Amino acid sequence: MRLLLLVGMLTACAAITQDLSGKMFTFPLETNTTHVKLRTTKQDFNAVTVCQRSFTDLKRIHVLFSLAVPTFANGFMLLWDGSDELEFYTQNKFAVFAKLDYKLNTWHSICITWDSASGLAQMWLDGLPSVRKFTISGSKIRGAPIIMLGQEQDSHGGGFDINQSFVGMLSDVHMWDYVLSACEIQKYVDERNFTPGNVLNWAALDYQIIEKVMVENKAMVCT
Ligand SMILES: *[C@@H]1O[C@H](CO)[C@@H](O)[C@H](O)[C@H]1NC(C)=O
Ligand SMILES: *[C@@H]1O[C@H](CO)[C@@H](O)[C@H](O)[C@H]1NC(C)=O
Repeated sequence: MRLLLLVGMLTACAAITQDLSGKMFTFPLETNTTHVKLRTTKQDFNAVTVCQRSFTDLKRIHVLFSLAVPTFANGFMLLWDGSDELEFYTQNKFAVFAKLDYKLNTWHSICITWDSASGLAQMWLDGLPSVRKFTISGSKIRGAPIIMLGQEQDSHGGGFDINQSFVGMLSDVHMWDYVLSACEIQKYVDERNFTPGNVLNWAALDYQIIEKVMVENKAMVCT
């Protein structure tokens, strides 16, 4: 019994690569520790696109995606500010995208793009593009990334704040090391054939669950 328990705990902690198509991560508790680490062998990003779907009833600030590098805790980070703005940080510089139609208890597709040549970031909420805003140009996101869902990193892999944690469901997380075209983003939003992320791919995700996060089927309708 003890051995079984130990084996169970070891497998729960071990990183695995899985096709999570049709699945979601459920974050059922508000804590300052629970999270999912997403692993990639890539580093040094001149450009990034991250797309994901989320569902929450949080009215407070909550993190949607947190990538830290040794030199910047906010290497690439998305945060809902608790009112109607999405904050995007890269290399500790940020842009605010205001007056977005982010509803509670609804699945939203959120994509964010940034490239170091122009320094411009853009947000796509359910396929609708935001204003393009400047954050930082001419410097890549350098060094070993630690990517996580559920907690916001104030240091490289730590510094969590329960009041910025995520509670709800997250799915279809992809990351690319280039800026997706508007057509590619539309395909992602519509769940048509799109080019999966070459940094993070939901259909071949290398992840590790820390504490209480469940992998569940995303479909919750009666068929
Ligand atoms: C989580 O919160 C507890 C209680 O407030 C605190 O003692 C602990 O240091 C926090 N842990 C992290 C990882 O922030
Ligand atoms: C989180 O927010 C609650 C309610 O506003 C507050 O009492 C608590 O001190 C905050 N915790 C931290 C770690 O900031």
